[in-house]
Amino acid sequence: EKAGYKHFMLKEINEQPRAIRDTTLGRISLDTGRVFLDNLSITDEEFRAATQITIAACGTSWHAGLAGKFMIERLARLPVDVDYASEYRYRDPIADPRAIGLLITQSGETADTLAAQAELIAKGSKTLAICNVVGSAVTRRASGTITTNAGPEIGVASTKAFTAQLTALFVLALHLAQVRDTISPEQSLHLATELSHLPSKLESILALHSSTKVGMSEGVAAPTPAAAAPASARTPLPPFPFIERRTRPRLSLDEHCQHLAKLFHNANNFLFLGRGIHYPIALEGALKLKEISYIHAEGYPAGEMKHGPNALIDESLPVVCIATKDPNDPSSVLKYEKTLSNIQEVTARSGRVIAIATQGDDEICNLVEHTIYIPPAPELLLPILEVVPLQLLAYHIAVRRGCDVDQPRNLAKSVTVE
Ligand code: M6R
Repeated sequence: EKAGYKHFMLKEINEQPRAIRDTTLGRISLDTGRVFLDNLSITDEEFRAATQITIAACGTSWHAGLAGKFMIERLARLPVDVDYASEYRYRDPIADPRAIGLLITQSGETADTLAAQAELIAKGSKTLAICNVVGSAVTRRASGTITTNAGPEIGVASTKAFTAQLTALFVLALHLAQVRDTISPEQSLHLATELSHLPSKLESILALHSSTKVGMSEGVAAPTPAAAAPASARTPLPPFPFIERRTRPRLSLDEHCQHLAKLFHNANNFLFLGRGIHYPIALEGALKLKEISYIHAEGYPAGEMKHGPNALIDESLPVVCIATKDPNDPSSVLKYEKTLSNIQEVTARSGRVIAIATQGDDEICNLVEHTIYIPPAPELLLPILEVVPLQLLAYHIAVRRGCDVDQPRNLAKSVTVE
């Protein structure tokens, strides 16, 4: 049932191209860029009259919501609030029946998300769901559902459901933009076409490498149960530079992440940095690492580092920086340049930077120890590509530490208590 993979998580990471393809299938015309969403009992008129979108979700789904805010606000010029579902009803939210509630949930059964949905409905809002399970509780109560056709997700750590949620949010943002007339037909077609290229881009970076399957050469030494050893007994991180960047043969993404896991699996802390829409991906990278490897990790907006957390940086701290850019988008380029300055602040304090960058960026690899490249894409679609190396990095670190990747301690796949 794991289709030859060692873990469900690895299988599900590799299923992402299909999950994204199936989530867009039949919803977008590649001739015109128009979006078609079936079975919504929210009319175009209601979408036009909407004053805001209120997103409520938990965990990884909340991270998708944070990224969705950037998509909807940028394309549809509609304000978006994003709440932890577990907090929503405790802040006595201001009622506005013209606000549309959006619940994002893989399982559709998360008690906190259902409670937020009940609160939204009680305040007079219609609710939409982005959900992976047809017929689940959240979909039964919603005025419409965009199903993420990721297929059953078994690993407790969400992977393919997350990228499918990002895809569904992008489709929704495009739909809202078309209905509200905030986007030109040319832009619509361009973005729809770019969305349709994502699965093959993902396939190219995942490009099934022999080391991914059970029984094949692992490429690196066998996993060590480092998690069992007390922190003081763990070996210190090897000194910089580990590798001659220029002479090292090209590695597949999977091999690259295995290599990084070998170097960094003994770290006690990790930091993940990003700006704008990349900040939620930094949060997601940190959550993946925490939940399956039990390493303390924090996601932080890159520009906030100088307001406190720079004090944490030393030579024992791996810092994963999302520094991708869309060269056709001036705001993306500006953000990238600011992120480069933040990276320099980290390297100046001997932090160990692993950058996630866009193919063709030859500048960044001269600044940092390690660079993982992803294919180029429009700014709002980059998150779907850049989260994949973070998932694989967390996976390989957890495997090296001897952790139970698919069933992490203290966690359940579906959290049905508040
Ligand atoms: O089923 P849901 O999307 O509502 O679940 C929400 C969270 O419990 C879930 O995303 C959790 O954070 C995952 N274990 C993260 O990998």
